[in-house]
Amino acid sequence: MAGKTTVIEKLLEDHQEVRQMFARFDTADRSDWWDIFQSLTNDLVRHEVVEEEIVYPVVRKELPDGDRLANARISEQSEAEELLSTIEKKGAGDRDFAAHLTKLRAAVLEHAQAEERTVLAPLARAVDRERLEKMGEQYDRAKSMAPTHPHPHAPDTPPGNVMLGPVAALADRFRDAMRKAS
Ligand SMILES: [Fe+2]
Repeated sequence: MAGKTTVIEKLLEDHQEVRQMFARFDTADRSDWWDIFQSLTNDLVRHEVVEEEIVYPVVRKELPDGDRLANARISEQSEAEELLSTIEKKGAGDRDFAAHLTKLRAAVLEHAQAEERTVLAPLARAVDRERLEKMGEQYDRAKSMAPTHPHPHAPDTPPGNVMLGPVAALADRFRDAMRKAS
């Protein structure tokens, strides 16, 4: 009988989608880059926030050296989030847009590869399938709570407007939504 999908399989699928989305820049017109960037941002933030809520707490508990691994991978994700923020703030007309995208692509893809090798593969060995399937369900539920587009104007008032760009604000609102629902 066909089994349910584990959280590992879902994460690998997300990573594939992100790789494909980056590849779209290679063939798309320059005028479409901003739209691709926006949907990429949305996918990446959703993926990362849900991963931090559902996957990394288990990594910390179940993998030898789990705390160190989790901290290393999460700090890579934060770096990518900062890059997203920078690009978003500078806008589509920025002359460094292409260079920033190249940097973002390298950072995200290296991170995804490191995550697959150091986190997902060991997790698949350390945790039984039934639990990984349950985590897969949690992952879907959490993902469905995500806002669909980065909010262009939140938050407006100090100090939020200084601390948080749209990307960070999106991640923040999403974390709040998940906390309320749990
Ligand atoms: Fe990931």
